[in-house]
Amino acid sequence: MLIASNLTKAFQTPQGSLTILNNVSLSLSRGDAAAIMGPSGSGKSTLLYILGALDPPSSGTVTLDNQNLYELNEKDASAFRNQQVGFVFQDHSLLPQCSVLENVLTPTLIGNEKSPVEYQTRARELLDKVDLGHRLDHRPSQLSGGEKQRVAIARALVCQPTLLLCDEPTGNLDQRNAESVAELLLSLHRSERTVLVVVTHSTDLANRFSQRLSLVDGRLITVS
Ligand SMILES: Nc1ncnc2c1ncn2[C@@H]1O[C@H](COP(=O)(O)OP(=O)(O)O)[C@@H](O)[C@H]1O
Ligand SMILES: [Mg+2]
Repeated sequence: MLIASNLTKAFQTPQGSLTILNNVSLSLSRGDAAAIMGPSGSGKSTLLYILGALDPPSSGTVTLDNQNLYELNEKDASAFRNQQVGFVFQDHSLLPQCSVLENVLTPTLIGNEKSPVEYQTRARELLDKVDLGHRLDHRPSQLSGGEKQRVAIARALVCQPTLLLCDEPTGNLDQRNAESVAELLLSLHRSERTVLVVVTHSTDLANRFSQRLSLVDGRLITVS
């Protein structure tokens, strides 16, 4: 379970302190999925990074399955992120020199919860599920935008994270590919029982979620 309590985030700039998040709280259980909307610059990515143990809040706490993310030292935080948090960004960020299968396996290189053979099996199964089981040896440059994003989703899930965070995952895709990526995210989220948080500009994508939230003036409000 993910619990964010009273998060604030302020950046110090030459012009003074800039408050981006103002007392944001959020609580999601295993199997829950939430979409976060809000105008550009409203702090959506900032919030997602805080939830994913990538950037500490100015105040407030985040716990995932009772672990306070910002009480971990740097080494444990990095291992925790690797094992418990999957990220999908707007830009797929695949390694161009690696094959599709190798890209999906990258997070497992520092994992030790499974044997290399078990991770291989898991990666292949996920690539089957995202309909790329026949493209294992291809390089990212041989794939379309939607296909690359499907590889990024398989990579995000390979270590069986508790939490899946997606920042504008369909932002660079045409409507047809955006729909298929959205469909995959939601169906894999259900079968893997992750907590899913997706930041999006797309009302089509947000409308697929039971929980819709919006960041307005630093506060997180429920959208009905
Ligand atoms: N490191 C930083 N220093 C100063 N301001 C920042 C920094 N990171 C983000 N911001 C500011 O915080 C605001 C929110 O950014 P961001 O979370 O990326 O918004 P969104 O993802 O909703 O577009 C923006 O005004 C941005 O300029
Ligand atoms: Mg952003």
